[in-house]
Amino acid sequence: MYFSKISATGSCAPDKIVTNDDLSKIVDTNDEWIVSRSGIKRRHFSSGENASDLATGAAEEIIKRSGIDPLDIELIIVATVSADYTTPSTACLVQANIGAANAVAFDVGAACAGFMFGLSVADKYIKCGVYKNAIIIGTEVLSKYLDFNDRGTCVLFGDGAAGVLLERTEEQEGILCEEIGSDGFKAMALTKGFSPAGNVFNNVSCEADRSMKMDGKAIFDFATRSVPVSVKKLLEKSGRFTDEIDFVIPHQANSRIVEIISRKLKMPLDKFYMNMDEYGNTSSASIPLALNEMVEKGIIKKGSLCIFTGFGAGLTWGSMLVKF
Ligand code: UT7
Repeated sequence: MYFSKISATGSCAPDKIVTNDDLSKIVDTNDEWIVSRSGIKRRHFSSGENASDLATGAAEEIIKRSGIDPLDIELIIVATVSADYTTPSTACLVQANIGAANAVAFDVGAACAGFMFGLSVADKYIKCGVYKNAIIIGTEVLSKYLDFNDRGTCVLFGDGAAGVLLERTEEQEGILCEEIGSDGFKAMALTKGFSPAGNVFNNVSCEADRSMKMDGKAIFDFATRSVPVSVKKLLEKSGRFTDEIDFVIPHQANSRIVEIISRKLKMPLDKFYMNMDEYGNTSSASIPLALNEMVEKGIIKKGSLCIFTGFGAGLTWGSMLVKF
């Protein structure tokens, strides 16, 4: 039986930093409100880099750190909801940029749970013996979709990319168990980029609406209810207990959401890694950005047992038990 282990991580964020004070010059908001309601202090915004550029930067870092020859990469999955193009996929653009001529490349869209869904798909390919390795990247340039007249939403999001190299192993390590799910009945709680079905033979508008629209309270309730349930199911399925877990790497949407999840799971808050103060909510990039930072700081070590858990538009959620 095969398992898939994370053998390298990498990230890439735009250099441009936008602080809460910067935002307060163009939006009716202030640093105190944003920090107390979300834990976000600043975010990185694109200076022109698109989702594929950031994803390529993350992939290059993964290649450099792992030493893998790009020609040996077998699968590239990019999770994004802010792709450069609807088609070609961002994964295909990354494939060409890094010279991974032998890889199969495609995108997955599951919003803030996108990285979890991408990891899940890659894990199956590896576990079934189809591929020996895969690069999975979450990348977002959400700044291009923000409505700066909607202060409840525009202060929360940021841009960035990060990912992992997943490799086949016969050791029982890497992705040990997963719990993922969707609830399309609540789809309208968070939407972005509506494209109407207008054409020259009907009277339907052709005008697309790019911006992000969110019922913040509905998402807050969903996250604080569904994530603890998802993590409990994951622990049950895997026969593990909370005190065996070294770290939880949650989707970096809001520090208050993480605090409630920690209380509901009766797990100490210091096991939950947070870096939304630096990046804001980067949707599918947020979990790998946090993971990469933990690896760089030496927090995650060989043998660390972690839970990744994400939630977002769709609605979607996903939790994974990962042994390093
Ligand atoms: O990846 C998943 C994506 N989304 C999320 O995770 C978002 C989940 N939701 C949240 O994080 C929270 O619901 C928010 C941070 C979006 C909002 O926090 P809240 O405590 O639910 O605030 P609220 O919407 O109830 O607004 C409270 C007040 C309102 O004023 P009034 O009506 O009480 O006078 C808002 O108009 O705060 C006001 N407000 C702001 N004030 C200053 C809303 N946004 C801002 C702002 N600056 N940026």
